[in-house]
Parts: sequence; structure tokens; C-alpha cells
Amino acid sequence: MEVVVVGAGYVGLVTAVTLSILGHRVTCVDVNSERIAMLKAGKSPFYEPGLEEVLAREIAAGRLLFTADLAEAVGNADCVILCVGTPSTASGAADLTDLMHAVDDIASVVKRPLYLVIKSTVPVGTNRRVVERLQQWQVAMPGGLKRSVAELITVVSNPEFLREGSALHDSLHPDRIVVGTTSKQAIIDMQLLYRGLDAPFLAVSPEEAELIKYASNAFLAMKISFANSLADFCEVWGADIRVVTKGMGMDTRIGSQFMQAGLGFGGSCFPKDVRALLYQYQAANLYGGFLQETLRVNQARITRSVNKLKRALGSLLGRKIAILGLAFKPGTDDVRESPSLYLLQALLDEGCQIKAYDPQAIPGARRLFPDVEYCASSLEAVQDADAVVVATDWPEFKELPWDQILARMRGRVVLDARNLYEREVLEKAGALYLGLGVPDGMVERRPA
Ligand code: NAD
Ligand code: UGA
Repeated sequence: MEVVVVGAGYVGLVTAVTLSILGHRVTCVDVNSERIAMLKAGKSPFYEPGLEEVLAREIAAGRLLFTADLAEAVGNADCVILCVGTPSTASGAADLTDLMHAVDDIASVVKRPLYLVIKSTVPVGTNRRVVERLQQWQVAMPGGLKRSVAELITVVSNPEFLREGSALHDSLHPDRIVVGTTSKQAIIDMQLLYRGLDAPFLAVSPEEAELIKYASNAFLAMKISFANSLADFCEVWGADIRVVTKGMGMDTRIGSQFMQAGLGFGGSCFPKDVRALLYQYQAANLYGGFLQETLRVNQARITRSVNKLKRALGSLLGRKIAILGLAFKPGTDDVRESPSLYLLQALLDEGCQIKAYDPQAIPGARRLFPDVEYCASSLEAVQDADAVVVATDWPEFKELPWDQILARMRGRVVLDARNLYEREVLEKAGALYLGLGVPDGMVERRPA
């Protein structure tokens, strides 16, 4: 198939590469011409393990092209896949500005039948809104006749479930392919588009597809907040949340994934998608209390972490804190809504001096916090620190040389905000160990 992918971000670029691997001729379009120039040179604009190697291979094979010229790309397309961003507005609703611009851009140049596939995460009802929008556009046919663009374009909802840090793997090995359409032919053609992927194919209505995406993200976020809320209760009894969630997860109905307690969830999707689903509940006059609570518990992780440091250090004013990990999760340089950066901001508000290190995310963090001191290694960041916080669970942090770290620090407080370590090991190295939901050196209270 001749495929156009609109948006060369995490989802667009990875989708373009995957479809190219599957043998389609893919043109990836982005309004950001710098990004397009980089991609033409085979460079990924963001860090995603394994992506650059495959990108270079697919470009060399002539199956994958990049351009900033949407009109030219859409000319021969059988299928145009929308992968533009849908960030939060101030009210929590999804901002569809970029998506609707892209729809208009496509509607203004389309000349032949094609599928318009919505892969961006969009509120329920967006497929319908796009169809209605296309009805307002007309295209001149040979002989001077005019047709509604909506007759040429079949709109299909096809949400994406990949994770950053394992995006290419997830895209090539999805758990399921969800296609929302009322057209039987679209189902057949979407099966052709993804032929070669070994995954269940679920054909549903557009609204169901849109909802499956939000519901999946909200459910996973809720599971994390459940574990985090439970982590606080574990502290009351000196129990270890890791053991409790392990025991829970052994029940196959519950499962052990997405129950890692710590600093909470971040990234460009969980927070915004929970907010957007909550907004949609409220717009439908439904009670979305569990969504609200998911967000509240998540935000409270930051305050709880600050309070732990306060209890261990006394006042935080003027304290030197090292933050290890700035990305919202390991395996990415993405810092959007990173819990680590929320903590960094909260510690700056308390008057702390911060030194920070991350294997990939320093450029992104520097754009938001230009005055923080960024270091080339963990050892450099902890020099003279009163406390160190491990805020992202990068594999390299699992192997930190704690003897050397504590020897360089001025104080000895270690906040293990991702529950990576065993208390005994750190205490042996001389640390005052603090965790989030694990027995630590600051056991609080126990009910009488
Ligand atoms: P992103 O911000 O990384 O990339 C979006 C890209 O679209 C940018 O490069 C931007 O320049 C480009 N763009 C904007 N308007 C355009 C237009 N009119 N024409 C061409 N290009 C345009 O976004 P992302 O993280 O890839 O997310 C895209 C969508 O996919 C969102 O709806 C998101 O919720 C969803 N999603 C993201 C992930 C993820 O892991 N990041 C996973 C699943 C779903
Ligand atoms: C998430 C979903 O997992 C994807 O399926 C979805 O496609 C994507 O959002 C999206 O819609 O954009 P992603 O945000 O890349 O993917 O990363 P996750 O691995 O889900 O982690 C999200 C956040 O939750 C991270 O901050 C992570 O540290 C945190 N997390 C995750 C926990 O705190 N505990 C866990 O047990 C798991």
C-alpha cells in the first residue's frame, strides 16, 4: 500500500518504520522541517532503543521517505495515518487543534479515495466529528463536477498502544490491533495494512475503538495509583509494598504488571489521558471519581517524597540534593510530565540546590530548568550532596556503587523513589535509607 503518516513523533515515526518493514511504501510528513531534515539524514529526533538502526535500513531500502510537503505526499496515498499530538488543554480536555488542522490540510488536497486512519488518542466521538468536518469540503472532479470530500475519504479509528522505551518492539509485536469502522471494506484493507503482524485483530465501532484506548490507559494508571495508595498503608505497618503487590499479582486475575509503587506515573499519555477521560465523563454528567482519585494519589507522591526528605533532613532550605533520573521512565529521553521534574520543582520551591543526572534526558530537562546543574554521571551529581533521590528506574541505577556514592556525599540520606534497592544493602554502605512503601530507616507510626 502507499501510506502517508502525518506526524513524525514517537508514534508517527515508529508506525512509519513498522509499516515500511511490513513492505509498504511509506512517506512520513511533519510540519517541523528541522525534524524532517534530521530524519532524511537517518537521525532519530528522539532517543528510542533500536530505532535509528532500523530507520537507516528502511530509508536505504527506499521504502521510507520523509517530507514536510503534505500535499505532495497525499497525492498517491491509499491510506493516511494521523499521528499528531493531542495534548491537554487547561480544562483537561484533549486539544484537537493539530488533528483538525491536519484533517483540513488533507481535505484540501485529496483527489482520490483513501483511508484516513486516526491513530492519535482522541476523545470518543472524534471519528464522527472528522466525518462531519470532511462533509464541509468539496473536491472538483474531471468534467467540472464537484463531490463531497467525505465520499472520497473513509475515516477509521485505529488507536496505538506502544510504550516509549520499547516502542519499536511494541509496534512490531502488539497485543492487539483495534480497528473502529462501520465499513466492511475498511476492515479488509486494515487487515492488509497490518498483514505480517502476529496479533489478534479486533474490529469494533469507531466509538468503541476510541474508548478502548482511553480505558486501557486509565485502567493502567489506576492500577499504579492503587499500588501507590497501598504503599502508604504498608508504611503504617512496616510492610513492603513489593511483597504485597507480588502476592496480589500471583492471582492471574490481577496480574503483577503496573503495580510498581514509587514516585508515580508521568509521560505524555497517562496523565493527559486520565484527565481527558475524566473530562468526557463530566461532559456526559457521569461521576468519574475513580479517575479523579487516580490523579490525586499520583500528585500526592511528590508531596510525600518531599515530606520524607524533610523528616530526614529537617529544613530543606539550602540543602544540596542530587536527583538521579529525569526521564518519566527508563529507556527514553522524554521528560513530558516526568514525576522526577515535578519533584525537582518542589525541591527548588523548598530552597534546595539541585544537581541532576540522567543517561538520556538532560537536554529535555535543561530546556525546562536551565539553571539546574546537570552532571555527566551519578558520581558527579552526588558530590557534597545532603541527600540523593533515585527518581527514574534506569537499569544503570540498579548497579550504583553505593560505597563510593556515600563517600562523596556530605550527608547520608538516600530516597529510593522507585523502590529499587534492599534497605540492608544501603544501610551497610552507611545510608539512611528511605523508600516509598517499603520498610525504611524512618518507620512512622503503627495504629494502637
Ligand atoms: P509527539 O508530540 O511526539 O509528535 C507529534 C508530531 O506531530 C510532532 O512532530 C509535530 O510536529 C507533528 N505535527 C503536528 N501537527 C502536524 C500537522 N498538521 N502535520 C504534520 N505533522 C504535524 O506525539 P506522540 O507522542 O507521537 O503522540 C501522538 C499521538 O499518539 C497522541 O495523541 C498520543 O496521545 C498518542 N499516543 C502516544 C504514545 C506515546 O508513547 N508517545 C503511545 C500511544 C498513543
Ligand atoms: C503508556 C502505555 O503503557 C501504552 O500502552 C500507551 O500506548 C502509552 O502510554 C500512550 O498512550 O502513550 P508509556 O507512557 O510510554 O506508555 O509508558 P509506561 O511504561 O506505561 O509508563 C508510564 C508511567 O507509569 C511511567 O512514568 C512509569 O514510570 C510509570 N509506572 C509504570 C509506574 O509508576 N509503575 C508501574 O508499575 C508501571
